Amino acid sequence: MKLLLDTANLDDIRYFNTYYPIEGVTTNPTILAREGGDVIALLKSIREIIGDKKELHLQVTETEYDRIIAEAKALYAMLGPNTFIKIPATDVGLKATYTLSKMGIRITVTAVLSATQAMLAANSGASYVAPYISRLENICDDGVGCAADIVKIFSAGGSKTKVLAASFKTAKEVLDVAVIGCHAATVGSDIMKKLLSHTTTATSIADFERDWNAAFGERTLLSMLEG
Ligand code: E4P
Repeated sequence: MKLLLDTANLDDIRYFNTYYPIEGVTTNPTILAREGGDVIALLKSIREIIGDKKELHLQVTETEYDRIIAEAKALYAMLGPNTFIKIPATDVGLKATYTLSKMGIRITVTAVLSATQAMLAANSGASYVAPYISRLENICDDGVGCAADIVKIFSAGGSKTKVLAASFKTAKEVLDVAVIGCHAATVGSDIMKKLLSHTTTATSIADFERDWNAAFGERTLLSMLEG
């Protein structure tokens, strides 16, 4: 399952883009508001850090059809062809998704909270749908089950639309959407770190180092190889 980073924090983006196999970055208005400052400069910096080839998913803030189209075109023109425009799952959003997809601008229909919304988004030409896992789990609904239904519907219908699971509060939720066959997940920095870190990995590495040093002292394997 492809992983994207759900943040607009430049330090985090630099770190994860250097060390983790992320294939892009996603933001939303709340995430951008958290960073504050010059939003245009921030978006350009994100694109500069991840390069032209990785995916950058940016959400529109307009709600009227003509203004969504204008905002999407302007974002796409500024940030390049691997920019996906996130549009919430509404009636106007579906219409804008249809129009922009026909123009060749790829759309991620976001704020998806049901499989029927996902089906309509796919039929409107969306490249991705983003079901919100933890926002469903938090209201005692089945976020992972919803994503599983969407995967099944797309697979049964031969849809080209992909599932980008979003809104995670635990690493287990990320694992669960990978197991049910989501194509991608966008994960915040804290959860992304939790996907890798394990106390037994850390103690294992410490044990290896201790045993090596006890036997060979300061001499490293590389220094032995280099003679
Ligand atoms: C995806 O890009 C969504 O906007 C995001 O994952 C929502 O996450 P939240 O529910 O933690 O705000």
